[in-house]
Parts: sequence; C-alpha cells; structure tokens
Amino acid sequence: MNKTIIISNRLPVDLKFDEEKLVVKSSIGGLATGMKSVHSEGNGIWIGWSGLTEEEIEPSRQNEVDKALAKEKCIRVPLTAYDIENYYYGFSNTALWPLFHYFQAYTEFELTHWESYKNVNQKFADIILENVNEGDTVWIHDYQLLLLPELLREKAPNLTIGFFLHIPYPSFELFRTCPWRDELLYGMLGADLIGFHTYDYVRHFISSTSRITGLEIRFNEIFYKDRIVKVDSFPMGIDYDKYHNAALEHEVRPDATKSELMHNIELHNMSFSESKLILSIDRMDYTKGIPNRIKSFEYFLNKYPEYKGKVRLVMLSVPSRENVPQYQRLKRETDELVGRINGQLATVNWTPVWYFYRSMPFDDLIDLYVASDVALVTPTRDGMNLVAKEYVATKTQGKGVLVLSEMAGAAKEMHEALLVNPNNFEQIADTLKYALEMPEAEQKSRLEVLKKRISRYNVEKWADSFLNALEITKNAKPVTITK
Ligand code: G6P
Repeated sequence: MNKTIIISNRLPVDLKFDEEKLVVKSSIGGLATGMKSVHSEGNGIWIGWSGLTEEEIEPSRQNEVDKALAKEKCIRVPLTAYDIENYYYGFSNTALWPLFHYFQAYTEFELTHWESYKNVNQKFADIILENVNEGDTVWIHDYQLLLLPELLREKAPNLTIGFFLHIPYPSFELFRTCPWRDELLYGMLGADLIGFHTYDYVRHFISSTSRITGLEIRFNEIFYKDRIVKVDSFPMGIDYDKYHNAALEHEVRPDATKSELMHNIELHNMSFSESKLILSIDRMDYTKGIPNRIKSFEYFLNKYPEYKGKVRLVMLSVPSRENVPQYQRLKRETDELVGRINGQLATVNWTPVWYFYRSMPFDDLIDLYVASDVALVTPTRDGMNLVAKEYVATKTQGKGVLVLSEMAGAAKEMHEALLVNPNNFEQIADTLKYALEMPEAEQKSRLEVLKKRISRYNVEKWADSFLNALEITKNAKPVTITK
C-alpha cells in the first residue's frame, strides 16, 4: 500500500533524557501541532529530527530511542551537535528565518552555516531514500529543507514530491540578498507542487523564480527541465473539533475538576467588577511582535485610565530557540517591559500583565482561551498564525473578540477579526477599547462567520486539498530509485 511520508526538521515528538529516563513530549509550533492530526489519521511515517543530538544518545540506548519513535510512526534523521549549531541555529534560524520574516538586520550569511545546511539536507535525502517505495508520496515541510526536493528528484526522478512553506515567502527584493538564492530556488523546484499559505507568498515566489531563473512561467506553472512545477496557495487550518469540543467540555466541568489556573482566573474575576481578560499566546520569537504588544497595552492603559484595575493582559510566551542571541535579547527586553509596566501601574489588588515564560499543557491553554474576552494576536510577520484560529474555535458561547495583525497570513481569511497594524500603538489601543466594549450581538455575528469558515476549512481539508492537487500533477510513470 502506498504511503505518504511527512518530512520536517522537527518531528511531532520531542525527545529528552531526564536524568536516565527517556521523556517523550509534544513539539511546539504551528507545523508540528497542525500536521500531527494529519499524521495520526494516515498510514504514513514522519521523518525528522528527534530533538536529541547523536552525542546525547549513547549507543546502548539507540534502540530504545528508535522504538519510542516507531510507536509514534516516526523515523529520526541523526543530527550531530555540529549540525544543530550550524544548520539549525545557524543557516535555518539566523539566515532564512529572519530573512523570510523581513528582519533583514538580523540576517547573517555564514559560509559554514550554508555548508552545514547543504550537508543536513543531504542527510535527510539519504534517510528518505532508504524508506521510500515506488508510488509513495513525499511531503516536505518548511524552510529548513529547501534543498531537499531537488536532492530527492536527482535520485528518484519520478517520485511524487510536495513542498509546503509554513512561513512567509518574502518579496524578491529581500530574497535576492541571499548569496545562495539560486541554489535555494532550484532546490524547491525539485517538487511537483509548491504550496504557500497565501496568494501573496505565491506571487513573491513566482516573481523571484522568474527574475532569478528566467524559466518559462505560465500563470502558476513553472516549466523546469522536462517537468511542470505547480505553485499554489493552501491556507492551513486547525483541528477545529479538537479545540471546539475541548472548550465545550471545559465549560461544563464541575468546580472540583477545574485547574488551578482556572480557579485563579475566576477568583480574580469575582473580585473585580467588569473584569476583562486579554490573551496573548505565542512562541517567544521576535516575529511575534511581543514588545510592541506590551507597549501598546501600556499605551492603552495610559490613554484610557478608566480601564486600570479592570483589564489584565495574560501573556503566555513559550521558550524557543534559546541559543540564538536575538531570542535571548528579546527575552530580556520582554522581562524588562513587563517589569516596567507592572512596577509602574500595579496596585495591591491588580497586576496589569500576567506573564508566563514556559509551555502549558493543552488543558490550561483551553482554559485561557475560554476565559479570555479578547485575543491580541499582533505579530510583525507571520506565515499564518494558528493561535488566531484556535481562539475562535474555542468561543462556543459566541462571546469573544479577535484583534489580529494584518501582517499574519491568517488575516487574509479572517476579515471579521479586528485587523490592526502591529506597529501602530494608537490604533491597537483604540481597537482594544472597541473590542472590550463591543456589543454582544456584534461579537456573536463576527464569530459565527469566522467559526463557519474555520470549521469548514480545517487541517484535514487543508491536507486533502494539498495532496489532491499533488496527485493531479503526479507523473504516471513508475518510480525508479537509485539508492
Ligand atoms: C514555526 C516553523 C516550524 C518550527 C516551529 C517551532 O512554526 O514554521 O518549522 O518547527 O516554528 O520552531 P523550532 O525551531 O522549535 O522547530
């Protein structure tokens, strides 16, 4: 039976040794969270990095690691500490990530990082070729593996290869600054179908391809060697039912089974008349606009002082890529800003910003979503942003307002949210006021439309439409694999 092999840098599970014990945790981030449900339903395997470097796995424990992964239908690509330093923290996260998110000043192009990136993409190709059979479909994900489609194509010319980018694709003017732009582009062109979250990213990709390669392009088809490469937009959805049903369950829970977090929120709400909760959830990443968000909230409290003592910003920042200096700086800046605003404005009974720097169990996340009146999602750039969709899915009572950055891919679909420019503090402050005072009927009508759209175009539908489109481009000839 043919299978679909999912490929991404990070597997949906993250392994760690805690003292002697092997601990299996869920990975964070939109890709892993979103694809997990697609993977668990299908008959395929997922190939990627386990979260452990080769140096961390003693030879006597390799079997145990492989077995733990096999249980999750996963296979690991062995990556060394050097690979992680240079390919992952290096080229992926200090060159491609900032470049593709328009943080050009953060972008560093280092030859050693690039060499390692090429090398690791080849490692992925080798492991995939050991595991792929004729007729299988390979679905590669994200910016860490831009060279992989072509590396596979060279060895398996007839293989069905899909590629999906989970982050923005930048304009040509930015992309052209990369010293290895040709290699990266031709690397992606090894795929049969290249998918992006939005039509804007498709446009940018086609424009880069046309200017850099000079290949013939007709509408969304690129004529490359003897193949046609299709490019299209597939806005990623969420597992709507999972979030919606969890919220329904949480709302009818008896008090005794509520989490400590929920008890505290309720206690706080009871002590303040008209108390409101504004929610912010993201990985601690400079693309998420976290300092701007805190400053906007501070600006809001100063501009509308009647809200002091009544509104709290609950900010969950999940630790991410802590070895990269820009992330360390962002963490310091965030700590300082939260300290400043709480230090200046807090009273004995009221803390304006509740700040958590850690990951949270799913049930606590649902509690936060359910309890909050407004979600403030203001990245300066974001490929899609699934938090915005998760928030809407949990609003079972038709109450709640989403304030969303126009720079997130999700804004292209979620017109009924209140859209803001994440750099415009005054606009965010005024929008927050509008959100907090929005009549219930308006909240309901906006949410109804959003929920309908998001529940229809859920993650399953997204994966199906990508894979169907890939199938259509598939070459009918049998696959020959040169191992
Ligand atoms: C984003 C990227 C994913 C990545 C995730 C978490 O969602 O698109 O590729 O896996 O962030 O980041 P990390 O570097 O921890 O894998």
